[in-house]
Amino acid sequence: MALSLFCLLLTLLFMQTMADTSCTDCFVQSRAAYYPNSEVNGTDVGACGFGSFGATINGGDVSAASDLYRDGVGCGACYQVRCTNFAYCSDNGVTVVITDQGSGDNTDFILSKRAFGGMAQTQDKATSLLALGVTDIEYRRVSCSYPNKNITVKIDESSSNPHFLAFVIWFQQGKRDITAVQLCETENFMCKLLDRSHGAVWTSTSPPNGPLSLRMLFSEEEGQETWIVPVNNIPQDWIAGQTYDSGVQVDN
Ligand SMILES: *[C@@H]1O[C@H](CO)[C@@H](O)[C@H](O)[C@H]1NC(C)=O
Ligand SMILES: *[C@@H]1O[C@H](CO)[C@@H](O)[C@H](O)[C@H]1NC(C)=O
Repeated sequence: MALSLFCLLLTLLFMQTMADTSCTDCFVQSRAAYYPNSEVNGTDVGACGFGSFGATINGGDVSAASDLYRDGVGCGACYQVRCTNFAYCSDNGVTVVITDQGSGDNTDFILSKRAFGGMAQTQDKATSLLALGVTDIEYRRVSCSYPNKNITVKIDESSSNPHFLAFVIWFQQGKRDITAVQLCETENFMCKLLDRSHGAVWTSTSPPNGPLSLRMLFSEEEGQETWIVPVNNIPQDWIAGQTYDSGVQVDN
């Protein structure tokens, strides 16, 4: 009796381990809706703070996330989303970028209208799919891809040099999360850890002086962390609303 219970436990443990190790790329079952009265693209008031870029990035294939928003850490993450109604839906579905937070009726995603229709096999079937309003889907995290783009810093319009600096990071490829950001002075290497004020927006009151060297902490799902230091600095005379090319890109 005791022995068979032990064997059962071992088997369960083994199955659990198999499930954990083999499934980082597996699809998860869920549901998706789309922005009810949106334009074709996403919305430029998305919770991530990407601004109009948040509606048009990735050709307008963007989405709001509920739990996957992860207090803003999920901003900029890419997901392959495909609906499961085989009468309407294509095998590949769409790849969307998270730019907003939101949930509907048991949904993980509220897609832009463009992305929702993009899961269909044809234009006609997209019309039928859109008429459903909400659909069963499956999704998995995938790498983001921005051909011919470097990671770019967009200084938020709310910034005021030299007292307050806020920015978002655009065009990060791969499937890692940026979980911390530092700004360092280039002369005496004094560094300051920034706050995530909301969404993808990093802020600092009284930022360091002079040209600023950015450091970003990239975190993998498995817990591995790497600091990445771009080749280009943010210039001392940075301007609200301006974008600065970091000169680096990542592939994973
Ligand atoms: C949607 O996004 C695409 C790609 O960035 C852009 O060309 C288009 O003008 C946008 N449409 C609207 C209605 O904003
Ligand atoms: C990316 O940065 C490199 C320098 O690190 C530069 O040579 C290249 O032109 C940049 N690419 C774009 C598309 O701006």
